[in-house]
Amino acid sequence: MSDPRRLPRHVGIIMDGNGRWAQLRGRDRIEGHREGARSVRDVTRAARQLGLEALTLYAFSAQNWARPVEEVTGLMQLLCDYLHDERPELMDNQIRLEAIGDVERLPPHVRAPLDALRADTAHHTGMTLTLALSYGGRESIARAVRSIAADVAAGKLAPADIDADRVSSYLPTSRLPPLDLLVRTSGEQRISNFMLWELAYAELAFVDCMWPDFRRQQLYAVLDQYAARERRFGLTSHQLTERAELSADDSDVELHLDR
Ligand code: FPP
Repeated sequence: MSDPRRLPRHVGIIMDGNGRWAQLRGRDRIEGHREGARSVRDVTRAARQLGLEALTLYAFSAQNWARPVEEVTGLMQLLCDYLHDERPELMDNQIRLEAIGDVERLPPHVRAPLDALRADTAHHTGMTLTLALSYGGRESIARAVRSIAADVAAGKLAPADIDADRVSSYLPTSRLPPLDLLVRTSGEQRISNFMLWELAYAELAFVDCMWPDFRRQQLYAVLDQYAARERRFGLTSHQLTERAELSADDSDVELHLDR
């Protein structure tokens, strides 16, 4: 692995290609999702071991409800199994489980273990694992706008105080570190309504393998790619070098003071 100082704080993943993985092998789509759930386990474990602060996985989009009913039912059952089976892993490793999206739409056999595990891991300080469930980026922004409008109408917020940071604070991701890296598997190069606001300055990585084949080795490779990138946040390369030199000088001063 590359320099740990260049590890992203927050990685988001669009886990794509489960269906194609299964079809390529002449198997049912749900078997691709089942194998994909194994990738979820391996990647989460590796992310925790590496020291990532946050991992956000796009597990079910707001639009996925329109898939064939047997696929939706199969996915809900996989989620339910996952929430039961992974409880010890999350408890033993200080992983905090979160969910973003319209979780009220989830069936009770998913919602109940989800709520229970969120409550039981709420105090964990290790890594935050967020499942995007019945999630859409646009829907999430619309919900934030609705809350902002309600607060303005109630006199709690002045329109002049609405800036980008204020909008971020109304999003369900407000407690997470900024999204540093967005990964999409399966070779498709699109965002599909995932974390539209949050990815403003995220690095994007499109990986050719299907999600069921994406395991910790593939995660390490994508993190190496990230570590080699220059993130400029709208500045020039020259400004970034100057800033790095200044902060190196600052740490020299601290070292002198320490002595
Ligand atoms: C996209 O692949 C993937 C999904 C819609 C579901 C992702 C679900 C899992 C990885 C398993 C369950 C989740 C957890 C957290 C245990 P696709 O079906 O669109 O693939 P395709 O583009 O090849 O058809």
